[in-house]
Amino acid sequence: MIQDPYLCISSDVKLGERVRLSRFINLYGCEIGDDTGIGAFVEIQKKARVGSRCKVSSHTFICEGVVIENEVFIGHGVTFINDTYPRATNGDGTVQSDADWSVQSTLVKRGASIGSGATILANVVIGERAIIGAGSVVTKDVPAKAIVAGNPATVLRYIEDSCDPMTEGVQLNVESIEGHAASSLPSEEKSLR
Ligand SMILES: CC(C)(COP(=O)(O)OP(=O)(O)OC[C@H]1O[C@@H](n2cnc3c(N)ncnc32)[C@H](O)[C@@H]1OP(=O)(O)O)[C@@H](O)C(=O)NCCC(=O)NCCS
Repeated sequence: MIQDPYLCISSDVKLGERVRLSRFINLYGCEIGDDTGIGAFVEIQKKARVGSRCKVSSHTFICEGVVIENEVFIGHGVTFINDTYPRATNGDGTVQSDADWSVQSTLVKRGASIGSGATILANVVIGERAIIGAGSVVTKDVPAKAIVAGNPATVLRYIEDSCDPMTEGVQLNVESIEGHAASSLPSEEKSLR
């Protein structure tokens, strides 16, 4: 049981081993895999699943219906959507409850990365190792290893294995892929970016 006044982790959350949590996090009814890091001001709703060795950066919202596989990077302020036509009330003016709408699902496959400020609409599948550009609005499925950007997000190009640090055996210079600013951060900050 985690005792920290700055964390709201309900008792039904399934936390894996060595999960790293920043402060001001709200988790309920969700599942988080081993060695995953969650940044500050992240909310993860019931029935959402985040895999192992993922990084979820600060201010991101992961709603019910979202499944994130292992080794996924989620940037800052990423928003997932699970209700395409939301309404506050029914025709008779009563406030809608869970019984009045149904959750739509989203799948983020292994090794994908989602840039900061992206919005992921409901009913999409983001393919393995795909990269979503910062600020994109993803409206359709994203193929594996595609780099997409824009609103609506479209494919810019495909990742070459030889340029991808996730490819087994490929060793890239961190400065060349992350830029100078990231490599000069203290290691703890880097891990929860
Ligand atoms: C999408 C991304 C991976 C593309 O990188 P890239 O392949 O090196 O692309 P380039 O910079 O060569 O840009 C290619 C084109 O896409 C456009 N573009 C790049 N990123 C874009 C984005 N996020 N949204 C809209 N257009 C974008 C460029 O303006 C350029 O357009 P042009 O051909 O008309 O000039 C990168 O720009 C990005 O957004 N990464 C996410 C970073 C992030 O959020 N990190 C989170 C933690 S810090």
